[in-house]
This record gives sequence, C-alpha cells and structure tokens, in this order.
Amino acid sequence: MPAVRASDGPVAVTGASGYVGSHVVVALVKKGYTVHACVTQLDNPDKTEHLLALNKSDYPGIVKLFSGNLLQEGSYDTPFTDCTAVLHAGTPMGYGRANNPRQIYDGAINGTKNVLNSVKKVDTVRRFIYTSSFSAIHHPMKPGYVFTEKDWATDNRENDPNWTKDRIDVDGDMAYSMAKVECEHMANQFAEKDGRFDVISVCPIAVLGPLLSRVHERMYSWQWFLGRMLAGEPCERQWNALWNIVDVRDVGESQALMIESDVCKNGWRYQLSATDESGEIDALQLQAHLQKLFPHINVGGPPDEIHKKIEKYGAVFQAPIAHCDKAREELGLKTHTIEDTLYETGKTMIDLGLVNPALK
Ligand SMILES: NC(=O)c1ccc[n+]([C@@H]2O[C@H](COP(=O)([O-])OP(=O)(O)OC[C@H]3O[C@@H](n4cnc5c(N)ncnc54)[C@H](OP(=O)(O)O)[C@@H]3O)[C@@H](O)[C@H]2O)c1
Repeated sequence: MPAVRASDGPVAVTGASGYVGSHVVVALVKKGYTVHACVTQLDNPDKTEHLLALNKSDYPGIVKLFSGNLLQEGSYDTPFTDCTAVLHAGTPMGYGRANNPRQIYDGAINGTKNVLNSVKKVDTVRRFIYTSSFSAIHHPMKPGYVFTEKDWATDNRENDPNWTKDRIDVDGDMAYSMAKVECEHMANQFAEKDGRFDVISVCPIAVLGPLLSRVHERMYSWQWFLGRMLAGEPCERQWNALWNIVDVRDVGESQALMIESDVCKNGWRYQLSATDESGEIDALQLQAHLQKLFPHINVGGPPDEIHKKIEKYGAVFQAPIAHCDKAREELGLKTHTIEDTLYETGKTMIDLGLVNPALK
C-alpha cells in the first residue's frame, strides 16, 4: 500500500498514555500528524497531560484524545475513523503483576483482534504498525548468537517442554512471547486477506530513555530497575546476561518512519535493539555508566555475591546480542547514544520525583 503522509489525514495510536505509546505520539506530532491518541482513562491527568502538552509545543502536529478499551469489541471504531494509519502500542502488561499470565496472553490476542476489526470497518487505514517485542524473536541459543528479524521465538522449540500452551496460565514470560508471535502472524494474515493495508511489526528489547509521565515508571520495568540503582539499591535484574538497550525515542521515531516508508511491505518486522556493542552492557558496565553520568549519586550495582562473581569470572552470558541495523539502513533511523539514553532515563525519573537519589 502507498506510504502515508501527514496531509492525508489523521493517524491513531493505541496505548497512547503508555511509555512506548507516548513516544510514538511525540514522533508523529513532530512530523505534523493529527494524532488520535487512545487512552483508557480520559479523566486521569497522569495519562493525558503529557499528551495534551504537545498541543502547546512548537511541533506542527496536534493530539486529540479518545477513549478506547482493547478488550471491548468496536471500542476503536470511532477513534480510527478517517485514519490512514494505526499504531497499535497498547496491551495488558504484567508489570507489578498488574495482569496474570492468562490475562497477558488473552489480552494481547483479543485486543489485537478487536483493533484489527475496527481497522477493517473504517476502510481508510493503509498502514498498521504492531508493537511486538524481542520476546517474539528470542529463542534459546548459545551465548554469542546474533539475533535478527529472521528469528522467531518458536524456532528450535520442538523438544522444549517449557514452550507449550499448557503453561500459559503459569508462565508469564512464555505467555507474553507466545502472544506476541501469534499477534504478529494474525495481523499479517489479516492484512493479506483484507488487501487494503500493510502490517509492519517492531520488536523492541530493553526500552529505556526519557519518561514523560509518572505512570511510565511501571514496577519491574527496565526503567524501574534503573531507578532503584540510582536510589543506591542493588541491581536485581539481568545481572546474569546483557542489558541490550534501545532508546524509547528511537522506538517512537522508527514507527513514524515506517508509516512514511516506501520500502516497508506487509509482514515485515524490525528488531529495535542496541545500535552496536555500546548498547549491550552487563550490570557492572551499567553501574559504571550511571556512576559517570551521575557523579553525585552512589549508584547501586549487582548484589555483592554477584559482583564478586562477575569480577572473578568475567562477564555473565554474552546474550542477547542483537542490533537494529535493519531499521537504521532501511528507515534511516538515527539512534541515540547509550549515554544519552541512560542519562535521560535517570534525569527524568529524578525530575518526576520517582527516585530518591542516594546522594553522596
Ligand atoms: N518497555 C519495554 O521494554 C518493551 C519492550 C518490548 C516491547 N514492548 C511493548 O511495547 C508496548 C507498550 O509497552 P510499555 O512498556 O510502554 O508499557 P505501558 O507503559 O504499560 O503501556 C501499555 C499501554 O497499554 C494500555 N492498555 C493496557 N490494557 C489496555 C486495555 N484493556 N485497553 C486499552 N489500553 C490498554 C495501557 O493503558 P493504561 O495505562 O491506560 O492502562 C498503556 O497505555 C507493549 O506492546 C509491549 O509489549 C515494551
């Protein structure tokens, strides 16, 4: 389908109040789009004020708020009316056990189904961008393996007892990965059959970068763990493997580039991960980066016993290795540096009062 331009009509974003969704909205407003930002709670200022503030900025586009619930059929018929593109960033997440594994799985599948049905009804959409995840790419491989868009989480699972629908109720990580794979296939097939729009998926890994609202600090998210380190607490996540980091602004910008791309075709996907090795860091390197960026703070690191192990035996598993070469080459995405990403994450968390920094 032909690419989309701001002058063609409005575009819609689901999950627009969320961390990723908000940055998709920003990227679109910067390009001059009228954005139908779909949120669950129009009366919650933490979910809307940072979006409405864009209407007072110098950016050429505008934001219009709509309410939408992924779990209600037809909920997006009105917000999608006249839209040329839909960017589907919303899904029930498991942060802080907000949803159980079954709700994560069913919410992703049913939410995406409902959104696709609304797209079909409005008849004006030419591009549909689905926010999938690296979880739809990653599968067990030896450390050092370089993942690309050709990889699927379903690869090499023939003899894997942990990859089975029987575990959806008990294994949140698996339920999430399986749902992301199925949603990508469902959306691609839906578009192929419909013939009026193309689906392109993005697969981000560990997303960090500026928070725009207090609600962007979801418990147990990557940014939440980084915040705990700035509070001087131990880094409890991913000390046994690499943090493969992508900037949330790059996740937003790449999606705006996708709706305008003459290259993207139905079924294509883009891995959004570290630009290169500079963004693939272990917990000690993360701590060292943060310490340099925030010299007045006593930054926490891996728990003591782990710290000693990493120092003695060297880095943890060299995985996951994955670079966003395809997005950079095909879309012309210009990525932020790891220092900028880490600094903006920490600074905005402190400015928003989400972190009480462990001052020296
Ligand atoms: N952050 C990462 O590291 C990462 C990595 C890979 C992929 N992703 C993907 O990026 C997307 C956004 O995640 P995020 O990290 O930005 O999480 P988030 O801040 O929690 O955003 C999720 C969004 O989904 C919305 N949502 C949840 N249930 C809904 C429902 N029933 N109806 C309508 N909207 C609903 C939420 O709205 P309310 O807040 O109003 O409930 C929120 O705006 C997800 O698809 C996620 O899988 C994220």
